[in-house]
Amino acid sequence: MHKIVHPKIFYFGTPVVLISTRNADGSANLAPMSSAWWLNESCMLGMSTRSQTVQNVLRERECVLNLPSVDLVGAVNRLALLTGRNPVPDYKAQQGYRFEPDKFGVAELTPEPSDIVKPPRVAECPVQLEAVVQQVHGFDEPSAWLAAIEVRIVRSHIDEQILMPGEKDYIDPEKWNPLIMNFCEFFGLSRKVHPSRLATIFAPPSRHVQPQ
Ligand SMILES: Cc1cc2nc3c(=O)[nH]c(=O)nc-3n(C[C@H](O)[C@H](O)[C@H](O)COP(=O)(O)O)c2cc1C
Repeated sequence: MHKIVHPKIFYFGTPVVLISTRNADGSANLAPMSSAWWLNESCMLGMSTRSQTVQNVLRERECVLNLPSVDLVGAVNRLALLTGRNPVPDYKAQQGYRFEPDKFGVAELTPEPSDIVKPPRVAECPVQLEAVVQQVHGFDEPSAWLAAIEVRIVRSHIDEQILMPGEKDYIDPEKWNPLIMNFCEFFGLSRKVHPSRLATIFAPPSRHVQPQ
C-alpha cells in the first residue's frame, strides 16, 4: 500500500561529481555535488548559490566535472561539510561546515592542469570533463538560493581502463563503476540486470545487435 508522505529530500540516487573551479585569487576549489543530469554534450548542475563553487562558476564561467569511481568514496567523504567560502554562511556553520582553502590536500587528491579551462582536473578520477557555462537558471523559489547551471563539455578525459577495448570513443558500462549518492548515503551500482534496447542505438557500430 502506498502512503502519502512529505519526504525531506528526493535524492533518489545520482552519480557524485567533484566539481573543480577557480577562486578569485587563482587557487582551486573542489566540491562534491550530485544533482547533475546529462543530455547530449551538456550537463545541468543543481547547486546552492551560497556555495563557493557557484560564486566561482558565475565569475569564471568554467569548471571541471570530475566523476569519482566507488573506490574514491573516502576522498569524497573528506570533502563533505567543507566549504571554500570564507566566512562560512551562518546556516552552514550551524550545520557543522568549516572553511577549507586546501580542498585537494584535505581530500588527498591530486590537481592536474586542464587543457582548455583554468580549473584543474582531479588526477584520481577516471572521468574528467572540462566544461564552460552556457546559461544559469534560477531554480525553485528565489528564497531557495538555488541555481541550475547549464554547462557544455568541451573536452573529455577518460581513463583508458574504462574504455571499450578497440573503441576509443566509447565508455564501457561494464567497467565504469560510479559512486552514487542515494538519500545522502554512498552506494555503488550492482550488476547489469537486463540487456537494454536503448543501448543498441549508442553502441559502437561494430557491436550493433538487433533490439530484443
Ligand atoms: C555527496 C555529496 C553530494 C552533494 N550534492 C550537492 C548538490 O547536488 N548541490 C549542492 O548545492 N550541494 C551539494 N552538496 C553539498 C556541497 O558539497 C556543499 O555545499 C559544499 O560546501 C560546497 O562547497 P563550496 O562552498 O566550496 O562550493 C553535496 C555534498 C556531498 C558530500
